[in-house]
Amino acid sequence: MYMKHLDFFKEGIRNIRTTGTITRSSRFLCREMIRPVNFEKAKIIVELGAGDGVITRHILDRMSADAKLISFEVNDKFCEILRNINDPRLVVVEDSAEHISSQLEEHGFDHADYIVSALPFLSLPKELGTDILRKSAAALRPGGVFTQMQYSLLLKHLYESIFDKVTLRFVPLNVPPAFVFICENTTSKS
Ligand SMILES: C[S@@+](CC[C@H](N)C(=O)[O-])C[C@H]1O[C@@H](n2cnc3c(N)ncnc32)[C@H](O)[C@@H]1O
Repeated sequence: MYMKHLDFFKEGIRNIRTTGTITRSSRFLCREMIRPVNFEKAKIIVELGAGDGVITRHILDRMSADAKLISFEVNDKFCEILRNINDPRLVVVEDSAEHISSQLEEHGFDHADYIVSALPFLSLPKELGTDILRKSAAALRPGGVFTQMQYSLLLKHLYESIFDKVTLRFVPLNVPPAFVFICENTTSKS
């Protein structure tokens, strides 16, 4: 079950700097976020900023039976809802995304095949955002893809400075309309 719209709104207002929004992603945005994922091959998918699980559920619906989804979320109310998604393939990590490598290691993995991020980089401290992006690039296997949603193009240069290739999609059917950055590693960053 999701949080009620009004409760999500209140949670967004209460923690606006870390949540970065007052509405969860639309199904159109969720689909665009996971479009680059090859679900037949993906074994380890990492989600950053899972909220109350709207993208999480889209990923689980398409993921193979032997794959794992490791979803990071710092808000305890959202984590409680995520833990109620009764799926043995999902690992909910109540920790900040900059600990991606140590958390992957703790769960027995040395890399991620795909990283799907809804982190609000524009409202997080700049150094923290840059640190998370660098660590994500390092945790991604060569050939892996990092997708990031954003409501503006302001950080395009930052993604381009960290990943080898960055392409862009626009999703008008979301409140507010959003961009999805598709960032690829062609070489190892670790
Ligand atoms: C824009 S919301 C996205 C929620 C949901 N994935 C969606 O698409 O509707 C961003 C989420 O990132 C979480 N978050 C913020 N900073 C974080 C961090 N450093 N590590 C992990 N999650 C974080 C917030 O608590 C919030 O739930």
